[in-house]
Amino acid sequence: MPQTYKNIVVLTGAGISAESGLATFRAANGLWNNHPVEEVATIEAFQRNPEYVHDFYNEMKPELYGAKPNPAHLALSKLQKEYPGKVSIITQNVDTLHEKAGSNGVLHIHGQINQAVCLNCGQVMESWGEVNTETVCPHCQVAGMMKPNIVFFGESLLCMNEVDRLLQSCDLFVSVGTSGVVFPAAAFVQIAKQYGAETYEFNLETTSNNFYFDHHIMGKAGETLPKFVEVLLAK
Ligand code: OAD
Repeated sequence: MPQTYKNIVVLTGAGISAESGLATFRAANGLWNNHPVEEVATIEAFQRNPEYVHDFYNEMKPELYGAKPNPAHLALSKLQKEYPGKVSIITQNVDTLHEKAGSNGVLHIHGQINQAVCLNCGQVMESWGEVNTETVCPHCQVAGMMKPNIVFFGESLLCMNEVDRLLQSCDLFVSVGTSGVVFPAAAFVQIAKQYGAETYEFNLETTSNNFYFDHHIMGKAGETLPKFVEVLLAK
C-alpha cells in the first residue's frame, strides 16, 4: 500500500447495507428470491404491468426511508472528508444510506428508490411517497408516464461517462459487498486494474470476480471497512 493514493474509487453493493438490516439480492432470503426478476426488474415487466412494478417499489420505500447507515457507510464518508486524495463512491444500491452517512456526489448507477423518471420529458422527480400510474410529472405536467428511477435489466446504467473517467484514473479500487455477477458493474475491477489501480475486495465470501482483486478482506464490511479506513487515514 503506497503512502497516499490520488484517486480512490469505491464500488458498493447490497452487502454494505446488510448490517443496516436491508436484504441483499442473492442471499437465500434475498429480494430476488421472493420476486422473480422478470416480474419486477425488467422494462418488459413495467410495460406489461406498470401497477405491479410501481407497487413493488412503493412497498420498499418505508423500509429504505427508515434505514440507518452502519459503520461501513460512515467509514466511507469519513474517508471522503479526511483523506487528502479524491474519494469517489459508485453504488449499485438504490437506498440512500451513503447520503445519510454524509457522503457527497455518490454515483447511483442503478438508480434511487426515492426517485422517478418521466418517460415523456426525461426529468427526474424526488419522492419518498407513492408514485403510481396516475402520478403527474411536476416538470411537464403529463400524467401516467412516471417510471421508478431504477435501472431495469435491459436498460443502460446511469452516470457511465463519469464512471468510465473515474475507473481510468483511479489508483485504488475498492469493492464492498457485491457479488460481482451483474454487468457492467462486475467488470469495473478489470477496467481499474488495466489502468493500473491496486484492487481490494471486502466481502463475506469469495466472489466470482476473485481473480481480479489483489487483496481480499473477508468479514462484515461494518467491521472490516472502518479498520481499513483508519489505516488509509494514518498513512
Ligand atoms: P448481491 O445480493 O448479489 O450480493 C451481495 C454481496 O454482499 C454478496 O457477495 C455477499 O457475500 C456480500 N455481503 C453480504 N453481507 C455482507 C456484509 N455484511 N459485509 C460484506 N459483504 C457482505 O448484491 P449486489 O452485488 O449488490 O440491481 O447485486 C448487484 C445488483 O443485482 C443490484 O444492484 C440489483 C441486482 O440486480 C438492480 O436492482 C438494478
